Amino acid sequence: MPTRHPCSIGILVSGRGSNMLAILRAVEAGRVGGARVAVVLSDRPGARALKVAERRGVPAVWVDPKGAASREDYDKKLAAALEAAGVSPGKGLVLLAGFMRLLSPWFVKRFGGRLMNVHPSLLPSFPGLDAQRQALEHGVKVAGCTVHFVVPEVDAGPIVAQAAVRVEPTDTEETLAARILAQEHRIYPLAVKLFVEGRLKIEGRRVVIDRR
Ligand code: GAR
Repeated sequence: MPTRHPCSIGILVSGRGSNMLAILRAVEAGRVGGARVAVVLSDRPGARALKVAERRGVPAVWVDPKGAASREDYDKKLAAALEAAGVSPGKGLVLLAGFMRLLSPWFVKRFGGRLMNVHPSLLPSFPGLDAQRQALEHGVKVAGCTVHFVVPEVDAGPIVAQAAVRVEPTDTEETLAARILAQEHRIYPLAVKLFVEGRLKIEGRRVVIDRR
């Protein structure tokens, strides 16, 4: 039973899972205040992240979207799987790590304030899909990534952490994405650590960090 851990984490993925792996490694190394990753859930059966999690001994489950009558109906399946693994709305933490489905207002409300996402742009610039391509096409000289709390509006919640990278004149979408991803792997585990240590307070649009 998941009782001795201060915070049980559930991670939602759809693909490669490199952010999930960065978080798993940080937790395994004891860099996240004794939290544990209780379960990894995917909406896609072939997600590489599921295999990566399994290999590290973390329960990894495909939650099939087929058969769900609505977005909320599917999200209720997700919530049930999370809660069965000990990730409770009042105490757990749910992390989106390349999870490419929109969540219903029902789910966001249920895990409100305990639900974070990483996005490959300096929000509020370039929300939504293909953020790195949007940045290149816009011609920005600085790009980056953002960890934020999730609200019903896409990529719009209170910002926990950001990191900037230079955009080089020779960058392609792939080279820029790789430079940004390295920063995602750095700031997402850090944001999780701050949350687990109880050092994040949401005040309206702002996240106040207790710097101790
Ligand atoms: C990451 O770059 C993440 O920021 C992005 O998907 C990638 C997932 O990679 N997420 C979004 O664009 C969400 N809007 P990963 O599966 O290797 O962590």
